[in-house]
Amino acid sequence: MKNELQTYVSHIEKYLDGCFDFYEFEPQTVLFDSMRYSLLAGGKRLRPVFVFDFCRMAGGCWPDATPFAAAVEMIHTYSLIHDDLPSMDNDDLRRGRPTNHKVYGEAMAILAGDAMLTSAFGHIADAPALSAESKLRAVSYLSRCAAETGMVGGQVLDILAEQRECTEQEILNIQSRKTGALIKAACVLGVMAANGTAQQEFAAMEFADHLGLAFQIRDDMLDVIGDAEKLGKATGMDGQKNTFVRLYGLQKCEELVKEHTEAAIDALDVFADSEFMRELAMSLVGREM
Ligand code: IPE
Ligand code: IPE
Ligand code: MG
Ligand code: MG
Ligand code: MG
Repeated sequence: MKNELQTYVSHIEKYLDGCFDFYEFEPQTVLFDSMRYSLLAGGKRLRPVFVFDFCRMAGGCWPDATPFAAAVEMIHTYSLIHDDLPSMDNDDLRRGRPTNHKVYGEAMAILAGDAMLTSAFGHIADAPALSAESKLRAVSYLSRCAAETGMVGGQVLDILAEQRECTEQEILNIQSRKTGALIKAACVLGVMAANGTAQQEFAAMEFADHLGLAFQIRDDMLDVIGDAEKLGKATGMDGQKNTFVRLYGLQKCEELVKEHTEAAIDALDVFADSEFMRELAMSLVGREM
């Protein structure tokens, strides 16, 4: 599993690094620096890996899906830059470095995020090896997952829920949008890049629903039990937030992460060769970063 993971991660990093190669005559270099700073700061690259491996599992040629993978990672990275802003979570550390706005200032951090969000859809449109139909479907699905009914919608609910006690359903509503939606987009775009079947798309959604939930529960746990050095972001920041830890307590959270990871893995049954994804999902149960 480790070797394949490394192959996927190196592949996406090389592509992201190359995104800025043709800008030598553009004068807004500080914008490129700010974008590169966050985009090439490490990060687990889980969403690109989901794009690649769902493409492979659905019978596609995974490197062809690289622009889709980059698009999801760009939107994810923009969401982190904006999530860290003083007006949102007000965080100083991300991916093991000072947050974007700490280095480049708030205006540049906002604009770097704007550029990544917009540029993401250009990468999909320009994907050289994929059909017009699969690109159109990817644009439609990713925009829905990222925008007001997806990630941005979840961030709004997250902000509105601060300082008050939420029900379980309200916390699930936040999670499925702010974190779940982009993970789902990654898995489904992988199948779309392969021109997979409706059954495969459905399985990708099912997998992502459970894995995304397990992922955010673990994220909330790590804010309490994690090590900032390993995580690359500060811990103890969720104070007044409606996290799963606040709702269930640590022990129940641990059980739920396992349960939902197993449910995610069960959804992979429709794919002929899902060994890598099973192992990857299992490895996230006790993740420390
Ligand atoms: C962090 O995402 C934000 C959440 C959606 C919980 P990741 O834990 O995937 O962050 P990176 O990409 O590895 O930095
Ligand atoms: C982040 O949730 C979700 C998005 C960035 C959309 P968190 O606020 O919990 O993520 P971290 O803990 O800052 O990475
Ligand atoms: Mg947040
Ligand atoms: Mg945050
Ligand atoms: Mg968090």
